[in-house]
Amino acid sequence: MGVTDFFCNTSSLCLHRPKLSPDCCGLRGSRTTFMPPPAASTSSSVPVKEDDCSLTGDSFIRPHLRKLSPYQPILPFEVLSTRLGRKPEDIVKLDANENPYGPPPEVFEALGSMRFPYIYPDPESRRLRAALAEDSGLESDYILAGCGADELIDLIMRCVLEPGDKILDCPPTFTMYEFDAGVNGAVVIKVPRKSDFSLDVKRIIEVVEQEKPKCIFLTSPNNPDGSIINDDTLLEILNLPILVVLDEAYIEFSGLESRLRWVKKFENLIVLRTFSKRAALAGLRVGYGAFPLSIIEYLWRAKQPYNVSVAAELAACAALQNPDYLENVKVALVQERERLFKLLKEVPFLNPYPSYSNFILCEVTSGVDAKKLKEDLAKKGVMIRHYSNKELAGYVRVSVGKPEHTDALMESLKTLY
Ligand SMILES: Cc1ncc(COP(=O)(O)O)c(C=O)c1O
Repeated sequence: MGVTDFFCNTSSLCLHRPKLSPDCCGLRGSRTTFMPPPAASTSSSVPVKEDDCSLTGDSFIRPHLRKLSPYQPILPFEVLSTRLGRKPEDIVKLDANENPYGPPPEVFEALGSMRFPYIYPDPESRRLRAALAEDSGLESDYILAGCGADELIDLIMRCVLEPGDKILDCPPTFTMYEFDAGVNGAVVIKVPRKSDFSLDVKRIIEVVEQEKPKCIFLTSPNNPDGSIINDDTLLEILNLPILVVLDEAYIEFSGLESRLRWVKKFENLIVLRTFSKRAALAGLRVGYGAFPLSIIEYLWRAKQPYNVSVAAELAACAALQNPDYLENVKVALVQERERLFKLLKEVPFLNPYPSYSNFILCEVTSGVDAKKLKEDLAKKGVMIRHYSNKELAGYVRVSVGKPEHTDALMESLKTLY
């Protein structure tokens, strides 16, 4: 069903160039001319004239993807190093909410003694899910691991959304929800947060009634401002006929309990977590989600079988073996967040927002341009985040680093303006 097999007679030519006139098939592309594969692979093929057809590659791309704007990713040390002409150790990287302490030593030992990198990983990430069950108190049947929480956001959308379905997004927030909705052909309905970045629950309720979006993405603590969603608000939204995806990528820094176990009670709740922040494994890409049993079964069917690599699973399991290290790093980052907040408050052109996370959003005031501030700091080897979207154009976000990173940032800020 849904699959057609074409059996190719090997004596006949299998590699065809479509003889489609752009006018009759309506597939005229805009940039490049359709070219045959390199001569070596088509030595037996019928010669094709260049002007035979001006069909271009992008004609094959799904129309909604042709309009998609690419995601704006953050650059890693190696690329930054080349761009800024500085060694990685001379760059203060406070732009991607990474954990500068790195993972516990057990992770390096586990990766160094990896036995089976040449064998496909466990498609069910059994060891990791058992370790997560122990860590969280939620049975492993409710847990599915992914190649970062990012993969799970996309996987949820692939399982839930038909093209044209609506999702509800509450910006400013993590832009991956809007991006993945675009990839999946969904329509994004936005209910902007209030001026203090809290959710506009009244408007959310109205929009759910009127527009009937299929799911809502909520983030607690929210990226980029670090605010949290309290139980009453979450319960009010869970009461609506909508699938709630609660992204808890930064929950460890909030001092609040995760809602992971709520998925046993609410059929319309999914909770996402990650090893990128707490366990400093952003580069290895491991995230996980907690799902009601009635939903998880479909994610198992639809996910890529080997989505969590051998290295990623080993590293995540090893990180969980040293909870004291993870706790100490978290405490250090939370303490540093409070110190950084006080120092940023003293900067005459910055207005920092209190944060429950490992980053601080600052309004850039007093006529200073936020984008220029980011660029001027980058010239000094200090990377912070600036936003190209209209609502956040006057803001920057600073990740919490080690004390020496805070000191370097403050030194650089002093020399500007
Ligand atoms: C709110 C939020 N969710 C998810 C992610 C991505 O997590 P992962 O690294 O596990 O893909 C991020 C990354 O910055 C984030 O800010």
